[in-house]
Amino acid sequence: MAHRFDVLVIGGGVAGLSVAWRTARRGLTVAVVDPAPASGASHAAAGMLAPVSEVTYTEEPLLRLGLASLARWPAFAAELTADSGHDLDYRTDGTLDVAFGADDLAVLDDLAAFVDKLGLPAERLTGRECRRLEPMLAPSVRGGLLAGADAWVDPRRVTRALLAALERRGGAQVRARVTGLETAAGAVTGVRLAGGGTVGAARVILAAGAWSGTLEGLPPEVLPPVRPVKGQIMRLRSPVPVLQRCVRGVVHGSHVYLVPRGDGELVVGATQEEMGFDTRVTAGGLWELLRDARELVPGVTELELADVVAGLRPGTPDNLPLVGPTALPGLSLATGHHRGGVLLAPLTADLCSGEAEPELLEICSPLRFQEH
Ligand code: GLY
Repeated sequence: MAHRFDVLVIGGGVAGLSVAWRTARRGLTVAVVDPAPASGASHAAAGMLAPVSEVTYTEEPLLRLGLASLARWPAFAAELTADSGHDLDYRTDGTLDVAFGADDLAVLDDLAAFVDKLGLPAERLTGRECRRLEPMLAPSVRGGLLAGADAWVDPRRVTRALLAALERRGGAQVRARVTGLETAAGAVTGVRLAGGGTVGAARVILAAGAWSGTLEGLPPEVLPPVRPVKGQIMRLRSPVPVLQRCVRGVVHGSHVYLVPRGDGELVVGATQEEMGFDTRVTAGGLWELLRDARELVPGVTELELADVVAGLRPGTPDNLPLVGPTALPGLSLATGHHRGGVLLAPLTADLCSGEAEPELLEICSPLRFQEH
């Protein structure tokens, strides 16, 4: 083998790059293998770091992961900025969840009580209080919940920063597709590359997002049970920021969110579609996003359309990520982050180095699908 690394990461999205950068910071040799890093789901993502406003009653383990990762974000962002010299547009002004009708208001009341029980900051607001915070909100907004601990970041800046920081820390990049794993004596010893050649490693981490379940040659019991969950998302441009914080709501039964960037960009997302490996942007998908976003902030239709893209979230059967060693010696996973890849990036890096809380390691362990 031409090269042998301590750690080799398959996949250069926000999860794989975070793991690789942190690994390089620990003084280990590391390489990321990806034909086009930072071009998949991380490129589409809005970057909400919002475990509280995305919480549901049935997903307390996911909430625990989200909160643990959110707590890691300030140090992660500061270290990444220092290592890369890049600004991440990391903002900490919270998420405002808004409601229009009596049913939605009741849901917000329940959510407020649940969040309060967890000891998390959340403030129930009237419609007028919501509009005082965000004057562009529709007059029909009747109430809201401000999740003050939520933050957000620009994922495209994050992945650019991770690539720069990885390079500065001596990490390698291999621009190629992985076609299979190399093994010896029942353990993974490296990867095979499309076009020939192999790269060796003491430990291989599969972080290929929605494609993690397609790696050839893996024993069926080790193959991660991830599936692509399509999300279409659009970016609008305004000369001045339209919103001060993330705003989300349920319109016509579907969730819509608006995420402002420091430069005036407004991200509107996202559809949630089970369409296999389909990344076509459709007229219907964009129409739904705009229709729903306009209910929250009528002025969005005045803005310039800057970008539309569809990404594939790596969904899992229990909506929890798959991070940690597999039953195959030498192979770990860092995938299955579904809607939370950006939020969970700092925690994912710590889980991969074994530096996370034992209960979180257990929640994410890929072995939960491999022990039967
Ligand atoms: N985290 C938001 C989304 O996946 O659309």
